[in-house]
Order: sequence, then structure tokens, then C-alpha cells
Amino acid sequence: MSDASLPPDLSARARTGPVLAVESSCDETAVAILSTDGEVLADQLHSQLKEHAAFGGVVPEVAARAHLAHLPDLVDRALKEAGLNVRDLGSVAATAGPGLIGGLLTGSQYARALALGAGLMFQTINHLEGHALTVRFSHGTAFPYLLLLVSGGHCQLIVVRGTGDYQRIGTTIDDAAGEAFDKVAKLLGLGYPGGPAVEQAALSGDPSRFSLPSPMRYKPNCDFSFSGLKTAVRRQVELLGGKDALSAHDKADLAAAFQQAVCLSVTDRVAKALDRCGPMPLAVAGGVAANQAIGSALRQLADKRGIDFCQAPMKLCTDNAVMIAWAAHERIRADKVLPPEAPRPRWPLDHDAPKSVYAGAVKA
Ligand code: KG4
Ligand code: ZN
Repeated sequence: MSDASLPPDLSARARTGPVLAVESSCDETAVAILSTDGEVLADQLHSQLKEHAAFGGVVPEVAARAHLAHLPDLVDRALKEAGLNVRDLGSVAATAGPGLIGGLLTGSQYARALALGAGLMFQTINHLEGHALTVRFSHGTAFPYLLLLVSGGHCQLIVVRGTGDYQRIGTTIDDAAGEAFDKVAKLLGLGYPGGPAVEQAALSGDPSRFSLPSPMRYKPNCDFSFSGLKTAVRRQVELLGGKDALSAHDKADLAAAFQQAVCLSVTDRVAKALDRCGPMPLAVAGGVAANQAIGSALRQLADKRGIDFCQAPMKLCTDNAVMIAWAAHERIRADKVLPPEAPRPRWPLDHDAPKSVYAGAVKA
């Protein structure tokens, strides 16, 4: 449906004023404002790391309450940073899924009320679309491109054909890549959040000391799997006498071996996708895209194939509201604004994609 279905005065105003976006799908509360040219006027983020650290992972109820506690202040700070009043905005957007339902309800209802109160257009954005379009904001990547979306809740290969036009060609059959990093960090006693801790430990490790499997390597499809790899790490930890018996060396070597296995698996899957879709630019986004080892393995693959490689900037890899504002901006420019969706924990980008056997992740 095009934005012709929206009241014309609201959509006209959306085109001529900045967009304010709210992101609250997991444990980051974020508010950003983009100008009509797509320039960042404000970028405010509160990470709930401290609120969840004691639990060793994100607690949905705690997250929802924290979003509610921080949103009013973040919106005020964003408007102040942009030097704007609510009445100066052109429209409001919010993530409506996929993610933790409490946070999605809090953020999207807050944003919706803000829009209603100021008489502005409100649009809901798919969090995965935010990740998918980030490299267009950061690198100006043209359609089509192959996106590896790797985060705490998702691991997918998507052909991004246009704004709102996505073809999923691979997904995880069990854990997401970030989830595997987080679980391995826990197994090694490296703390939370796991991804950066594993990457840091791996820097001083010897990846050849332990032989771990690289799941799905050489499989003819483009799917991922990480749960067997995580189990292999657990077995090694047990053989070494358990988590408390691990030396710093053991932890570093296991982290390095795990990270190398992930790199091998991921590059194999991406190579398969490129074989299937033909040469096109390769982009990587989502929290795990912040991993430098994975980034350089993908860059090498792209160089070998002679295709462009775009890694979303570190700050835009993990959850943020700039990517949501950018997706809203693209939809406004492309006349592809949709009527608001009710918040939902699951919201596939590609409705026609075959269902994954995986039924666990709700995060993005
Ligand atoms: O996209 P994101 O911020 O949140 C959602 O999943 O919604 O991704 C977070 C995930 C976590 O699993 C975290 O451990 C992982 O990204 N991550 C990393 C790194 N930084 C964050 N994984 C590997 N290496 C990193 N440097
Ligand atoms: Zn995300």
C-alpha cells in the first residue's frame, strides 16, 4: 500500500519535515532525528547493559520498564540536540517488531502518542529493515545487494532488492550468531555481553589448539547453524575440568577457535549465496557485524570475488534509532509508507520465505 492511503496533509508534512524515530525492541532505548535530506540531527541512546548485567542476559520485564523510564528524557534530549520543537517535526516512527513485546509496546505506543498529540504521521518500522538499509545510510549502497544480517536474535542472508523488497535466501536452523557468541562467553566465564568479550579474548588466543566444527560448511543451501559448535565448546570446557578450572590461556584459545569456526562457516554460507544470486555488493549489519575478524574474513571473500564490501559502522551495527529513522526516511521518499502495524514479537522481512525450523529467537 502506498502513502496515498494516508491523509494527504500528513504525508505532505512528512516529506517536508524531520523524522523522529524510537527504537526499543531489545535492551537499547534509542531516539534519533533525521532531516529531510537524511542527515542526523540527533542520536540519543541509553544502553541497559547495567540493568541486565546482574542477570547474565536481557530480562524482558526489566527491559520494558527501563524503556518506559528512559524514553521521555531521551526524546527531550533528542529534540534539544536537534534544536527543534515537536511541532517542527514532519513525522514520527517506531520499531514495532520483531523483538521483546514489552519493549515494543512501550516504545511504539509512546511514539504513537507523540505523533497523535502533535498531529503528525506515524509509521511503524520492522527492526530488520532498519539493519537491512543501514549500509545505504552509511555507504550509499545501491540496490540490489546481498546482506548478511547477524545479530543476537537473527542470522540471515537477504537480497535487498529495493525499499520494502527483500528476499531471504538463508537463515539459521537453530541459534543466531550473536546468541552463540553470548552462550560461549557464558561457558568460558567471560561475562556479558558475550560478543565483544569473546572477540577480546580471542585476540591473544591460538585458534589451532582446539579443533571445532564449522557448521553447515559445504552444505548446498545458504542456511546457518551454531548450536553444534556451541556444544563442541561446552565439551572442550568439560574435558578441561569445567569453567572454573580454565586458565586465561584456555579461555583465549577456545575463544579464538570458536571465532575462527564462526568465520569459516559464515564465509562459506555467504560464498554459497553469491554463487546462487550472482555477483552483487556484499553488506554486513547487526550486532555481530561489529566483530573485526568476521568483517575482515568477509572483506577477503568480497575482494576475491571482485565485489564491493560494506560493513555498517560500529555504532550502527548494534541497535540504534538512526537506522529506524533512516528506514522511515526511505519509505517516505519511495512512497512506501504503510499503515501502522500492531507491535509483534515476530515479523519476517520476507513473508514468502520458507519457514525456518528454528522457533526460538524473538530479538533482532
Ligand atoms: O543487533 P544487536 O545489537 O541486538 C540484537 O540482537 O537485537 O546485536 C547484539 C548481539 C549480541 O549477541 C552481541 O553479543 C553481539 O551482537 N555482538 C558481537 C560483537 N558485538 C556485539 N558479537 C561478536 N563480536 C562482537 N564484537
Ligand atoms: Zn538488532
